[in-house]
Amino acid sequence: MNIDSLDGWQRTHLSTELSEKDVDVHVILMGWVLRRRDHGGVIFVDLRDRRGLIQLVFNPEYSPQSHAAAHWLRAEWVIAVHGVVRARPEESLNLDLPTGAIEVFVDELKILNRSEAPPFPLDEDEAPTDSVRYRYRYLDLRREKGARQGLYMRHRFLSTVREFLNSEDFIDIETPFLTVSTPEGARDYLVPSRVSPGSFYALPQSPQLFKQILMVAGFERYYQIVRCFRDEDLRADRQPEFTQIDLETSFLEESRIIDLIERMMALVFKRLLEMELPIPFPRLTYDEAMLRFGIDKPDIRFGMELADVSEIVRGSGFGVFREALENGGIVKALKIERGERLSRKDLDDLRDFAAVYGGKGVAYTRIRDGGEWQSPIAKFMSPDEHAGIAAAVGAVPGDVILFGADSPVVVNNVLGNLRNSLAAKLGEVPSGQFRFLWITEFPMFEYDEDEKRYKSMHHPFTSPRMEDLDRIESDPASVKARSYDLVLNGAEIGGGSIRIHRSDIQERVFAALGISSEEAREKFGFLMEALRYGAPPHGGIALGVDRIMAIITGSESIRDVIAFPKTQKATCPLTGAPGPVTQEQLKELGLRIVKK
Ligand code: AMO
Ligand code: AMP
Repeated sequence: MNIDSLDGWQRTHLSTELSEKDVDVHVILMGWVLRRRDHGGVIFVDLRDRRGLIQLVFNPEYSPQSHAAAHWLRAEWVIAVHGVVRARPEESLNLDLPTGAIEVFVDELKILNRSEAPPFPLDEDEAPTDSVRYRYRYLDLRREKGARQGLYMRHRFLSTVREFLNSEDFIDIETPFLTVSTPEGARDYLVPSRVSPGSFYALPQSPQLFKQILMVAGFERYYQIVRCFRDEDLRADRQPEFTQIDLETSFLEESRIIDLIERMMALVFKRLLEMELPIPFPRLTYDEAMLRFGIDKPDIRFGMELADVSEIVRGSGFGVFREALENGGIVKALKIERGERLSRKDLDDLRDFAAVYGGKGVAYTRIRDGGEWQSPIAKFMSPDEHAGIAAAVGAVPGDVILFGADSPVVVNNVLGNLRNSLAAKLGEVPSGQFRFLWITEFPMFEYDEDEKRYKSMHHPFTSPRMEDLDRIESDPASVKARSYDLVLNGAEIGGGSIRIHRSDIQERVFAALGISSEEAREKFGFLMEALRYGAPPHGGIALGVDRIMAIITGSESIRDVIAFPKTQKATCPLTGAPGPVTQEQLKELGLRIVKK
């Protein structure tokens, strides 16, 4: 059997361009064999191209030669056919397929390439195991149910974003990948320099420093769809390299940047999902989000809000509550309707759930008919406490109330995550909804207990609120930032801020972060210097493309919307990266590997 060449053949149509209106048209089609079926003399082949599928018919009476050749065909062989479009007989219509009313009778077949038997079937809905599918990603991407549609959707998303930002007078400017550390709170990926042995570039965690400098350079509106690199622990929503829609503007305040992003997302949803997004999106301050949801990225597709019941149980007979409050902590409650959905075991298992989030337990009670409490802790608490708590959470008979008592950080962490987890388990999360939310007025600084110092909640270039400037030194914990996060269905999909554009304020913020002026000069001297040459007021945002796409396409992991993603261990199953290098390369770079 020979391998043919194209010999001047040109494809006349893609599979899905053909329909009943093309009956009797002569066509040349090209693509891959998805499957071959022999039906007593007639051979059927499903031909797949980049658009979809079409059925080919090799009939021995119509074309003995191509029928004979079709016997060779196997899954994933590459072919070109010449033939004529026919209407399918009534009994073989396939209404699920766009081309299901027609088939192509083949009179000439060219075999353009063979394929080894693929390591998994490409025509099944079930995905192969991860290790196999990412090693053979090129086959996985051929699958209709693979990441293929996600990548098309991603392309349309980014085209729409570019179109929108171009129309808003933004300019797309590329910034360096071989650069110095750009702090976003993760570890840097480093690249050794051959020309300056012992020196390293850092791959950017974001283009933050450059985009601010582009504002000093007077561009006023910049954007970039850009890869960022962060060496951090990987999860379903985190990759070591990921893509941001990064933008920066001059002379605009928060509300204008927020409005811009809302209009952009509305356009995207209209184009991609034919959905009208209601704008403006709701906004919550960080404090309110923590109070009501225990988390700074609340999923507002469902209710189940938390209630602070500290004042009701202060001095309570229940030791766990009393002690938490005496130690400066809080007690919060989470009501679950139709509590019979949670078994005794489910409730007892909450202790393990709490442990994962740093808590010691989750107390609970069932509310019986007449409002009576059924709980191991009921007897430690007064009727007034029972009634006060029930009123605070709006409990009715049949409900379960869950409690967390500890420091505010721990209580919010436990109950905020428990809220998400129980909503999912109990089927309280409506599907097909996209609920955006802005979180504003984050604290400027966050105290790191391990390092015993303040860290930036966003990044060190974020501006404090003007009215809080006086307290940067005296009471950093009370200073709020001019930052905003965009949340979609409980995921942080973007973050940005108004920046510090005055070098004196930037120096004070560095000092509050424990960064000495020498260190600041060494690491960010170029930015500090730029700020002294007429830096305009500026601010911007970056949106996580992979996370947005994963949510829009209903994927469990951002890996499903990335062509060649990395594993949890930051390796690439296809190429084997990262890999060893030769002794010569190491020598040239002045590096020596020390075995651990
Ligand atoms: P931030 O660090 O919040 O802000 O990042 C912006 C958005 O990028 C996404 N993201 C990630 N996506 C996948 N994998 C990761 N490892 C990952 N890390 C972050 C998130 C996040 O909201 N320079 C600032 C932006 C600014 O201030 O303008 C920045 O990078 O969706
Ligand atoms: P214990 O006194 O440890 O047996 O706990 C009694 C109940 O209180 C159990 O249901 C525990 O899960 C719960 N519990 C223990 N510590 C806490 C805490 N910090 N916050 C809320 N509930 C707790």
